[in-house]
Amino acid sequence: MNLTQFSLPGVGIFQTFLTVQAEQPTSGRQHVRSTGPLIIDHTPSTVLMADDGRSVLKFIKARSWHEYFKTFWARSRLFKEVKGNQLLAGLGIEVARIHEVGIGLVPGYKYRYLGYYLMEDLAARQAVEMLSWFQSGEVSEAQRMQWLDRVIDDLRTMRDAGVIFSDCHLRNVFAQPNADQVIWIDTGVTRYLCPRSRKFARKFNFSMRRFANYHDGELTLSEEEKRRILALQLPE
Ligand SMILES: Nc1ncnc2c1ncn2[C@@H]1O[C@H](COP(=O)(O)OP(=O)(O)O)[C@@H](O)[C@H]1O
Ligand SMILES: [Mg+2]
Repeated sequence: MNLTQFSLPGVGIFQTFLTVQAEQPTSGRQHVRSTGPLIIDHTPSTVLMADDGRSVLKFIKARSWHEYFKTFWARSRLFKEVKGNQLLAGLGIEVARIHEVGIGLVPGYKYRYLGYYLMEDLAARQAVEMLSWFQSGEVSEAQRMQWLDRVIDDLRTMRDAGVIFSDCHLRNVFAQPNADQVIWIDTGVTRYLCPRSRKFARKFNFSMRRFANYHDGELTLSEEEKRRILALQLPE
C-alpha cells in the first residue's frame, strides 16, 4: 500500500489517496503523480488521460458528506464501480480492465473525491463510445441492430444473474469492431440475492424502460430497437 498524491490545479484536485490495488509496484511510500489531458469534468466525476498516455484515470466525486463517509465501510460509489467491474468480468462480460485503485481518506480542499481508479484506455483497442459511433452516421441500420443485440445479450446475462447495471445507456458501452465485442465502463451495479423476486423484476424492468427512452432527443432508437430492449423485461 502506498500514498499517492495528485496535484491538478486545473480541475481542483489536491488530494492524497491510499493506493490499495496496483498492478505495477510504485517506488517509495509517497509519490506525487501528474496526468495527461482532461477528458471530462462533470458532477459525478473527473476523467483524464493518465501520464503514460495509455490509460485513463477516473476520479469519483462525493456528492455529499454522507457519501464520503460511506468509504469507511466500503459502500461508496468507488467500491460499487470497482466491485461491479469484477463482478461483470466474472460473468464473462467484457469490461475496461482496472489497473489500480486509490481511496481518498482525507478530503481535498475543493472537491471531496471518494477515490480514483486507473484503467486501460479503450481507444488503444480501437473501441469507440457506442452513442457517438451511432450518431456519426458510419453505422448502417442493420449493423446498429447487431451491435445493440450484443448489448442486449450482456443485459440478459446480467438479468439472469440478478444484476442491475445502474447507469445503463450507450455512453457507458464501447463497441470494439475489430473483436466484434462490446465493452462496459462506469460499472456501478447492484446484485440482488433473489433474481426471481418481484422486487428484482420491478427494478430491472424500470432500468430497461429507462434505457429504451434514455437517448430520445439525441438518438431516438427505432421501434424495433426499443422493442428488443423491452423484451428483456421480466413478468412482475
Ligand atoms: N476506459 C476508458 N477508455 C476510454 N474512454 C473512457 C474510459 N473511461 C471513460 N472514458 C470516457 O469518459 C467518459 C466518462 O466516463 P464514465 O466512467 O462514464 O464517467 P461518469 O461516471 O462520470 O459517467 C466516458 O463517456 C468516456 O467517453
Ligand atoms: Mg458514464
